[in-house]
Amino acid sequence: MELLKHFINVTKLHPILVNFTAALIPFSIFTDCVAKYKNAVNLRDFGWWTLLCAAVVTPVTAAAGWLFWMKDDNGVAGMTIHKWLGTGIAVLLFGLFYFRHRFYRQQKFVSSLYIIVAILFVLALIYQGHLGGIQTYSGM
Ligand code: HEM
Repeated sequence: MELLKHFINVTKLHPILVNFTAALIPFSIFTDCVAKYKNAVNLRDFGWWTLLCAAVVTPVTAAAGWLFWMKDDNGVAGMTIHKWLGTGIAVLLFGLFYFRHRFYRQQKFVSSLYIIVAILFVLALIYQGHLGGIQTYSGM
């Protein structure tokens, strides 16, 4: 475990992987919205594939976050939220993916309910990134 922690600290894997999570989820939802509006099947499939990639990478992002935890993160309210919100996002993303997968199986465009839930998800993700950024860059 110590070796893995050292690897994560040296490679800065968490700040690298957050970019994938932060790009893939909003991109998937944006693509699904445009696909629904334009009636574009190719884009619709793209929305599913990008969410699949996000569902694969995000648990690794969250796990890397746990291993990236530093002493000065202890006791910081924003980082406590960041820790649990990030873990929650990684778990709930499976639910969002399951929801999205039903439309994929039926070869349908996503519903308005899905878009609303997904937008709430993106808002939580923005807040999550904001909290991580504050902690990393506030001392600069
Ligand atoms: C969806 C999941 C997550 C996202 C999108 C995310 C996002 C971020 C971002 C954008 C940063 C700033 C990195 C930079 O630009 O250099 C950051 C830093 C950090 N995150 Fe996360 N994070 C997630 C989950 C987690 C989890 C579950 C933990 C676990 C404890 C965690 C721990 C940390 C730590 C320790 C830092 C560095 C803070 C410092 O510089 O002291 N993150 N995160």
